[in-house]
Amino acid sequence: MTRLTIRRPSDLHVHFRDGDVLRHVVPFTAQAFARAIVMPNLSPPVTTAAMALAYRTRIMDAVPASTDFTPMMTCYLTDHTDASDLLAGHRDGIFAAAKLYPAHATTNSSHGVSAIDRIHDVLGAMQEAGLPLLVHGELTRPDIDIFDRERGFIEEVLVPTLERFPRLRVVMEHITTEDGAKAAVAFGDRVAATITPQHLLFNRNALFQGGLRPHMYCLPILKREKHRLALRRAAVSGRPNYFLGTDTAPHLRHLKEADCGCAGVFSAPVAVEAYLRVFEEEDALDRFEAFASLNGAAFYGFDPPAETVTYVRASRTVEASVPVGDAGALVPLFAGEDIAWSLQSG
Ligand code: DOR
Ligand code: ZN
Repeated sequence: MTRLTIRRPSDLHVHFRDGDVLRHVVPFTAQAFARAIVMPNLSPPVTTAAMALAYRTRIMDAVPASTDFTPMMTCYLTDHTDASDLLAGHRDGIFAAAKLYPAHATTNSSHGVSAIDRIHDVLGAMQEAGLPLLVHGELTRPDIDIFDRERGFIEEVLVPTLERFPRLRVVMEHITTEDGAKAAVAFGDRVAATITPQHLLFNRNALFQGGLRPHMYCLPILKREKHRLALRRAAVSGRPNYFLGTDTAPHLRHLKEADCGCAGVFSAPVAVEAYLRVFEEEDALDRFEAFASLNGAAFYGFDPPAETVTYVRASRTVEASVPVGDAGALVPLFAGEDIAWSLQSG
């Protein structure tokens, strides 16, 4: 196959940040995707409907003219989340979901939830309203090995929560293990999972390929090969529980190439093309539209766009870096390398 036409996809997990970085990264996502689920881990985090509304306006201000793009906002859950503000924000069409960051799991998660029972009242209200819970599924206790954090979260937190709230709808964000892929289909259609391009393309060896590779460091961390293979089977399975969410997570180069570098892979400039590489290698391009454009729409309850886009098998060189004004630069996934697929323009 040398060209593929699909409904315009949605990226159901992105980090846009704010300020200069936001202005420079939003155009990449808006060009390739009809919609995005926007993560709330700003500093300070997006914890109220008013903050989300203001943030949505800043995002829309960065969308290039004549580009059709809809950001869908999320609420950052804390031990003190006000369920009535959350539900009012949902009713007003501001909040599409709420995000659970276990405290200290990742970037700007210090205000996250310290123990799941602290938000049981909020989860009950979300269940009644049909508002999806998005989870960063990692245990953060220091005695848990970093490679076991996802499995531990599924066993200790996720499964008991799904049993306690039998109608709560959950997206397991950026699953990285076979355990995650299994859990995403074990509860019928009320549980789903996003899968990033990097977890489909690389295993943990990529972190140490000829030296330390800070631009491959993200959380949850890349896992061993058997997990990558399980994720690939899941993504191309066509099952409605799996959909596209890049977790594109820009950090300026000097903040990644540092003593204590930030977690995140900046994939927005090459996201669809990176997934296409996976689906082509798996001989499953005919299932790409379900993963990229349809399954997430069905879960969140929006109409997949009527508009289509065409990707062609024409190689292009990915930009070596993306300047962010005076602040520095971002290094994208596949920086300076050739990638086989391109968006057909016009
Ligand atoms: O690698 C990551 N980066 N994982 C996350 O969960 C958060 C993200 C970020 O915001 O930088
Ligand atoms: Zn994320």
